[in-house]
Amino acid sequence: KSGHFTYDPGFTSTASCESDITYIDGDAGVLLYRGYPIDELAEQGDFLETCYLLLKGDLPSGMQKADFVERVTRHTMVHEQMSRFFTGFRRDAHPMAIMVAVVGALSAFYHDSTDIHDLHHRQVAQIRMIAKMPTLAAMAYKYSIGQPFVYPRNDLDYAANFLHMCFAVPCEEYKVNPVLARAMDRIFILHADHEQNASTSTVRLAGSSGANPFACIAAGIACLWGPAHGGANEAALNMLQEIGSVDRIPEFIGRAKDKNDPFRLMGFGHRVYKNYDPRAKLMQQTCHEVLAEVGAKDDPLLDVAMELERIALHDEYFIEKKLYPNVDFYSGITLKALGFPTTMFTVLFALARTVGWIAQWEEMIEDPKQKIGRPRQLYDGKTKREYSPIASR
Ligand code: SDX
Repeated sequence: KSGHFTYDPGFTSTASCESDITYIDGDAGVLLYRGYPIDELAEQGDFLETCYLLLKGDLPSGMQKADFVERVTRHTMVHEQMSRFFTGFRRDAHPMAIMVAVVGALSAFYHDSTDIHDLHHRQVAQIRMIAKMPTLAAMAYKYSIGQPFVYPRNDLDYAANFLHMCFAVPCEEYKVNPVLARAMDRIFILHADHEQNASTSTVRLAGSSGANPFACIAAGIACLWGPAHGGANEAALNMLQEIGSVDRIPEFIGRAKDKNDPFRLMGFGHRVYKNYDPRAKLMQQTCHEVLAEVGAKDDPLLDVAMELERIALHDEYFIEKKLYPNVDFYSGITLKALGFPTTMFTVLFALARTVGWIAQWEEMIEDPKQKIGRPRQLYDGKTKREYSPIASR
């Protein structure tokens, strides 16, 4: 025995839980937020309406939506001292490294919303995180490119305000393109929640100890960063750029199938979906719209992505293992066309997923039966043995 412990596949190493927030049918490729199909929400609603739905359980009335939007709008600024926090980082720090740090640091600035047993505290913390994530994400981006931070504007809607904070500069007027703002808003909806994925389970586990909500969301951001999870959108674009042209696709398909090659088709496969990820279809549509709007509909990477998808979906390896494109496959091309560097892709995923993490955290906190999470193990290490002095070893 090597003295390590392993998880027995039949022994759940992560606690399962009851939830009524998001439903996935992996075999049918169905995704519902509080019972509403993701495509209807993405096509007919907007992100803050989806936030309300995930948090409260039902779509808001006109009055409820206006009040929710107003409360979020009023919390988009961050404490001025936060901007000094950023200056401690190297300019080339990965924006996800910055986000893990600054979101966790929110608990040092907003003590009046860290008491998890106080419903008002929790509600204020939720609004603050939804409102401030775009501001912090934009600050991380601006810091990485050496440009001054741009303050939020209350006259712009959520997605437009985010794009303005990212791409406006003090020396000239910046008009947000409404088509791109709508696409950004839809991308946020597609990433808002996804039941008990790795980062959501991380937030729940951290929250089960009673940690404050800002620290729990920072833990979720750290988990999402991994290339097998939210980091796949950055990895998928890097993969498409490495493939470079349609004629090199067979080489990479071969590598993906080779058990001895660690290469995986990034943006393909899913632990739950054994059918097409419904978000991937909506992301592909959004990709075409954005590329057309920015005059890049001939982007060769889109040709590579679509041909790669076509070949893979007809390859017996992918068919047999039920590997389909997931939400990350087309998002990289889309986000690049919106003007973001690859290092910002997972930050955008974290921005959108914050509402899902918060809704799942709140559901756990509200559960009177909830206890601290404590996954168990199947120990197969050394049996008890006597200590031996170093001289005899
Ligand atoms: C996200 O959980 C969520 O809900 C996550 C997410 C969310 O919204 O929160 O949907 C977001 O994380 C989407 C996934 C993004 N990751 C990637 O695109 C990275 C590339 N995908 C793989 O790393 C993989 O598909 C995973 C990690 C996503 C899932 O891996 P699993 O659980 O091993 O998948 P599986 O059990 O269905 O795999 C079946 C087989 C395995 O081979 P065998 O052990 O049976 O021989 O297919 C293989 C896998 O090795 N396989 C792949 C593959 N994905 C799985 N082979 C080649 N290329 C791939 N992409």
